[in-house]
Amino acid sequence: MAYKNFTLRTDEHGITWVGINVAGENVNTMGTPVLNELNALLDQFEKEPPKAVAFVSEKQSGFIAGANVNEFVEIGKTGDLAAAEALVKRGYDVYERLANVKYPTLALINGFALGGGLELALACRYRVAVDMPSTKLGLPEVMLGILPGWGGVKRLPQLIGAPAAFDLMLTGKTVNARKAKSLGIVHEAVPPRIMWNTAIGVLKAQPPAHKLSFIQNLMTNGLLRGFVASQARKSVAKKARPEHYPSPYAIIDLWQKYNGDVHKPQADEPCSVRSLISHPTAMNLIRVFGLREQLKAQAKGIDFKAKHVHVIGAGVMGGDIAAWCALRGIRVTLQDLDASRIAPAIQRAAEMYKKRLRDDRRIRDAMDLLQPDTTGDGAKQADVIIEAIVENLSVKQKVFAEIEGKARPDAILATNTSSIPLEQIATALKAPSRLVGIHFFNPVAQMMLVEVISGAQTSAEIASKATAFVDQIDKLPLACKSAPGFWVNRILAPYLGEAMRCLDEGIAAETIDEAALAFGMPMGPIELADVVGLDVCAAVGQTVTPDAKAPQKLQALLEAKSLGKKTGKGFYTWVNGRPQKNSASSVPEGLTHRLIQPMLNEANKALAEGVVSLPDHADAGAIFGCGFAPFRGGPINYQRNQANAS
Ligand code: NAI
Repeated sequence: MAYKNFTLRTDEHGITWVGINVAGENVNTMGTPVLNELNALLDQFEKEPPKAVAFVSEKQSGFIAGANVNEFVEIGKTGDLAAAEALVKRGYDVYERLANVKYPTLALINGFALGGGLELALACRYRVAVDMPSTKLGLPEVMLGILPGWGGVKRLPQLIGAPAAFDLMLTGKTVNARKAKSLGIVHEAVPPRIMWNTAIGVLKAQPPAHKLSFIQNLMTNGLLRGFVASQARKSVAKKARPEHYPSPYAIIDLWQKYNGDVHKPQADEPCSVRSLISHPTAMNLIRVFGLREQLKAQAKGIDFKAKHVHVIGAGVMGGDIAAWCALRGIRVTLQDLDASRIAPAIQRAAEMYKKRLRDDRRIRDAMDLLQPDTTGDGAKQADVIIEAIVENLSVKQKVFAEIEGKARPDAILATNTSSIPLEQIATALKAPSRLVGIHFFNPVAQMMLVEVISGAQTSAEIASKATAFVDQIDKLPLACKSAPGFWVNRILAPYLGEAMRCLDEGIAAETIDEAALAFGMPMGPIELADVVGLDVCAAVGQTVTPDAKAPQKLQALLEAKSLGKKTGKGFYTWVNGRPQKNSASSVPEGLTHRLIQPMLNEANKALAEGVVSLPDHADAGAIFGCGFAPFRGGPINYQRNQANAS
């Protein structure tokens, strides 16, 4: 039988290799047609049982990225709950069938295996992971407000013990090949050159299944099962409220009560697929997944790839931008006034690489790509030049006038300014159309969003190349018009301003923060102001709302040079990177609304002014740039849902 998404080959050892190559896609996902074909394949194998079966991806991009989330996105638009439920149960059944076959099965995991991709591997008897940077294993369903319903909740705890399985399933985090081996998710983690032989060897030797230790077994199947579930609930409760994020709680319940079988819960039980899918959180989080894809899609088809980036200014931002670009495999030259100003940035980069790469050779490769450059000669070869020096118009103009003389004619000239209109900086250039804003957020490594700012003078071609560059370094590009505060700071400023006015009225900082947490913000506005830096907040406030009176407490702290987390004192006192808080008193009626409403109003106004061009981009910018409660789907979506509900 011919398949659209699978190729079959039986080798000299009698092993049937199933190559997974989903038709018409760059990445393998387990959409309904693929799942149906897998079922047909199992029919064929039932009739003519193979000696052994090995699944392997034929795509360069990885093993399998998961279920096809777009099917959920479509279901989200129609609200067809029965279709969503059927989709989950169907996947569960097909994988259950695979797990019960008599012949030995193996997944050779070459690249990412996420969600429904890892669940397929878990349904195999053996797993071999290829040890390469792109190999990542995880069950990220919780991030979409759903659960690993294709057998993940059932099989992962049986394989590695419930505590370790919860650590992955409740956070959605991924592990690399070596960690997967040490946890017991895979039998072997091997370099690419021996992956085929290892897989063949495992299928020939058919080693016994990985066994849980005595204590793991007690915690997964024995007396300690209830205790493990209640500990997991407690640790989830520290991070997520059940009314905002029901899915981690549902994962624990589905495991504890039904051992991960999605058919078992009654439809109205909180751990049923129907309950989760019908909760607005799942639909909003699935929509947020779509928003992320929309931002990335802006870069599709643009023929631009940077090989060399030159960064001017090795301070907080420039140093970290340079480090990030080198981490992404681009040659970077980093310029500042003298070597002593570049050294701390190189030191920070080394620390970041150590934490993220954990491999001496890869750390060295990244460090080799990052070169200090006190002469600024790197600018002559660069494809992208990013200026991140002091926020001062005349200094920036001077630097750009010099740079234009050195740079290649096709190089992108970019500024990271937060507040200076691009048109003013561009007056220093002979060709002002070359200047674009590439506005990163602090801390660079953590913040996904990067605003791509077009001034009135910016050419469309330069803006689209800048968009492709942001995508190249794995950040999310948001196209913005050059206007005070651009998008993120524009909507953040009125929210932080309102929070500071509440403080001046005598409401405790902890209570104000609590009111925002109750809405679903990841951090309260007072704590956020301290983290951003009160000097930066004041400057942004001045740019976005120049006529508003500066809040009194903020003013006093600025005068005392208490600038927040970075000086150890701001609205809070900071010890070891943590704010010292008293417990919050109960949130007064209306306080949450009072804080959030200014942000919503500003979002409506800025969208109407065309600062961003689409409501979906407005929502994406607020979620990925300001941390706007993701499960509410962004400020525009939230207001739409509120209007529909009333
Ligand atoms: P910073 O003060 O930490 O670093 C500025 C660096 O530029 C210093 O190392 C300084 O020696 C260097 N510099 C000054 N004049 C120079 C010149 N002529 N040639 C080469 N190097 C020169 O500043 P920070 O915070 O990194 O800000 C840089 C830019 O990024 C500013 O435009 C700021 O508005 C923007 N920005 C800052 C954010 C933040 O949270 N700090 C967030 C987003 C943007």
